[in-house]
Amino acid sequence: MTLDEHQASSPFVSERTFSRRRSAIDVVAPYLAVPGVERLIEFLRVAFDAQLTFRSKTGTHFEVRIGDSMLMAGQHFASDLITMASYLVTGGAGFIGSHLAEELVRRGHRVRVVDSLITGKRRNLDHISGVEFLEGDLAETNVAARAVEGMDYVLHQAAIPSVPRSVKDPITSNRANIDASLNILVAARDAGVRRLVYAGSSSVYGDTPTLPKREDMPPNPLSPYALQKLVAEQYCQMFTRLYGFETVTIRYFNVFGPRQDPGSPYSGVISLFSTALLEGRQPTIYGDGAQTRDFTYVANVVDGVLRASEAPDAAGEVINVACGTRISLNDLLRVMNGIVGTNIQAIYEKERAGDVRDSQADITKARTLLGYQPIVSLEEGLKHTLDWCRAEAAATAGR
Ligand code: UD1
Repeated sequence: MTLDEHQASSPFVSERTFSRRRSAIDVVAPYLAVPGVERLIEFLRVAFDAQLTFRSKTGTHFEVRIGDSMLMAGQHFASDLITMASYLVTGGAGFIGSHLAEELVRRGHRVRVVDSLITGKRRNLDHISGVEFLEGDLAETNVAARAVEGMDYVLHQAAIPSVPRSVKDPITSNRANIDASLNILVAARDAGVRRLVYAGSSSVYGDTPTLPKREDMPPNPLSPYALQKLVAEQYCQMFTRLYGFETVTIRYFNVFGPRQDPGSPYSGVISLFSTALLEGRQPTIYGDGAQTRDFTYVANVVDGVLRASEAPDAAGEVINVACGTRISLNDLLRVMNGIVGTNIQAIYEKERAGDVRDSQADITKARTLLGYQPIVSLEEGLKHTLDWCRAEAAATAGR
């Protein structure tokens, strides 16, 4: 059977599906030429997810199942699984960016990373094969233009992500968080990119009078970092309104997980607590420790961002992605001590300038527009993170 004959006869593999993705045709075509679909099915199983099982019903009709649960059938099966796209992950050598790159590769997409390596690390990508890496600073327009060439989607993660660092040096963080964002928006719009998903921040809410924080609450940035994140997300929305260029902002809430760098005083609190407990040191708590955060394990964010890149009604929107719960730093330390099997008390220091008191997301909009729901709980995420920190410490000791 030729590809044309297959397309004509299959209710699943529409012409639209294939014309959208030349690269997908090139990969799958040899298998389509084989009578029956068994080899295609086998190819898809190996290429996309070893856990998938495929059941051939009649000729080209098939169902996709995970265990006993039906995953997809009919037209969605072929169009969803066969479609491969090109993704640019800016800041892809960083913590969240490298997790996005990893998941995209796992799903069979083409991935390019651009990173200045100021906070990102090349070795965060070492375990992922087939990622194209571009080193450069997106605050330079030619780097942005080169990075977006030939890309379908842009996941804009590059930033200097720290409240205290922005308080200390607002000019450097302004350049990374605003100038670079505007450059990538212009470049992506001009290159015909389908959609850009921007890494927004819960910090834009500041101290709101009510919790949980909803996207329609007025922003109240308390630090240069929060203001910069707000400006860039408003640029995103403006690009959608003004130029019809599709953007979605995902507001992250205190993301944590493996590969979050604990090596600087500006690092996220969970990475700092983790290394302190594992090394038997007392962690520092700034303030009374009663401040709360909606800590979100990185896999939840990856899921939310990838949903946002394709969700039909999300263009121009700003959407919280978090767990929708909150915990104080004192309680967090207690939970982490429990997991590690220690009982180490914190050293308390003066509250940090620009710090928000309480943070908790309303995730109704993400549920409605993206079909998102948190998949990894705080405790489970903490266990994965501490396991990773332990393994890192052992690897460093062995080097
Ligand atoms: C803020 C944003 C978050 C953003 C991040 C980037 C809010 C609510 N969240 O996180 O969306 O991605 O900046 O950096 O604004 N702390 C300690 N001891 C430490 C380190 C931190 O007590 O060793 C405290 C901080 O003072 C803060 C809390 O822990 O109260 C969390 O700090 P951190 O992990 O740096 O993140 P946020 O500043 O909350």
